[in-house]
Amino acid sequence: MALVRVALGARSYDIIIEEGSLDRADAHLAGYARKGRLVVVTDANVAKAQLPRLTASLNRAGIAVAPIILPAGEQTKSWRHLEQLLDQLLALEIERGDHVVALGGGVIGDLVGFAASILKRGCHFIQVPTTLLAQVDSSVGGKTAINAKAGKNLIGSFYQPGLVLIDPSTLDSLPPRETRAGYAEVVKYGLIDDPDFFAWCETDGQRLLDGDGDAREYAIERSVQAKAAIVADDERETSGRRALLNLGHTFGHALEADTGFSDLLLHGEGVAAGMALAFRYSARLGLCPAAEAERVTEHLKKVGLPHDLASAHVKADGAALIAHMLHDKKMAAGTLPFLLARGIGRTFLSKDVVLDDVAAFLDEDRAAAT
Ligand code: NAD
Ligand code: GLY
Repeated sequence: MALVRVALGARSYDIIIEEGSLDRADAHLAGYARKGRLVVVTDANVAKAQLPRLTASLNRAGIAVAPIILPAGEQTKSWRHLEQLLDQLLALEIERGDHVVALGGGVIGDLVGFAASILKRGCHFIQVPTTLLAQVDSSVGGKTAINAKAGKNLIGSFYQPGLVLIDPSTLDSLPPRETRAGYAEVVKYGLIDDPDFFAWCETDGQRLLDGDGDAREYAIERSVQAKAAIVADDERETSGRRALLNLGHTFGHALEADTGFSDLLLHGEGVAAGMALAFRYSARLGLCPAAEAERVTEHLKKVGLPHDLASAHVKADGAALIAHMLHDKKMAAGTLPFLLARGIGRTFLSKDVVLDDVAAFLDEDRAAAT
C-alpha cells in the first residue's frame, strides 16, 4: 500500500494506492457513510465489472449502497446526464456533509466531481478510479467538467475530492486498448520533468501493460506523486506549472477533433501522438536533440500507441489541424501556448510558436513518415 498526500491546506486529501482495496473498501470508506449508506455513481461497464466488489465489501460492514448507473462513454459528460444525476442525488436526499462515491474512469470522475461542486452549493465526493488514465491523472487534482456544444470540458470547476482510493486490480477488467491509452499519461510524467521515470517506462512499461502488479503499482504511485506535487504548487493552473500536464494535448486535441472525438482515437492515444509530435517539432526548432525525440517516438510505437498522424488515423492537413487548435480553450489573448521540450524531462511552455510553421511541420512530418 502507498499513501500520497495532496497538500492543499484545508482542502488537502489522501490518495491510497492498494491492490485489492475495493474488496476492503469498508476499511477505507466506512467513516464516510452517513446513516449507514453510501451513494455510488458509476457507468454500465464498471457496474458489471467492479461495482459488485465494492458493494460486497461495504455490505459486509453493514453499509448499504445506493447505486446510480449511467451509460458508459464520453456523451455522459453532458448537461442532460448532469441534470439527471443531480435529480437522482436530490431524490436520495444527499446533504452538504455527504460524500458521493465516483466509481469509474475519467468520465464518471469528471461528471460526479462537477455535480458535487454544485449540489446544494457543494457536497463532498470520493474518487475510486477504475481506468489507468483516471488512476494516474483525472482522479487527482480536482478538475471537473462536462462537455459543451462548443467543445470538450468547457463547463466545469476546480473542486477537490475528499479521498482518492485506487485499486490497481480494477484494471484487470479494463480493455487492453484503454489501458494502453492511459499509459500515455504515465509516460507524460517522465517526459515533463522526470527522465529517470521515462527510462523506467522504456525498460518496464510493457510489464505494466501486461498486468504485472508491482510495475502497475509503482507507475501509479510515481505518477500520482508527480501530479500531487504539481497540483499542490499550482492548483488552478495560474503559475504555468500545472499547464505542463497538458504536454501533447494541443496537438492531441486537434487530432481528436479531426477524428470526431470518436473511438477511432481515444483521448490517451491522441495525447501519445501529440507528445511525439511536440518532441519532433521541438527537434525541428533545434530545441531538443533529434535522438531524444526519436526515443520518445520509438517507445510509443513499441508499446502500440499512435505516434504520428497516420497511426492516429488523422486525414487533415496541417492548416486544418491548426484550425482545430484555435478552438482549444487554452488559447489565451489570441496566442496559442505550446508545450515544447529541450529534451526528455525538460518540457516548457512556449508562447511564441508560429502557427504557420506548425502547419508546415505537420505536413512535412506526414510526408516523412510515408
Ligand atoms: P472512460 O471513463 O470513458 O472509461 C473508458 C472506458 O472504460 C469506458 O467504456 C468505461 O465504461 C470503461 N471502464 C472503466 N473502468 C473499467 C474497468 N475497470 N473495467 C472495465 N471497463 C471499464 O474514459 P477515461 O479514459 O477513464 O477518461 C476520459 C475522460 O477523462 C475524458 O472525458 C477526459 O476529458 C477526462 N480527463 C479528465 C482529466 C482531469 O484532470 N479531470 C484528465 C484527463 C482526462
Ligand atoms: N490533466 C491535466 C490537469 O489535471 O491539469
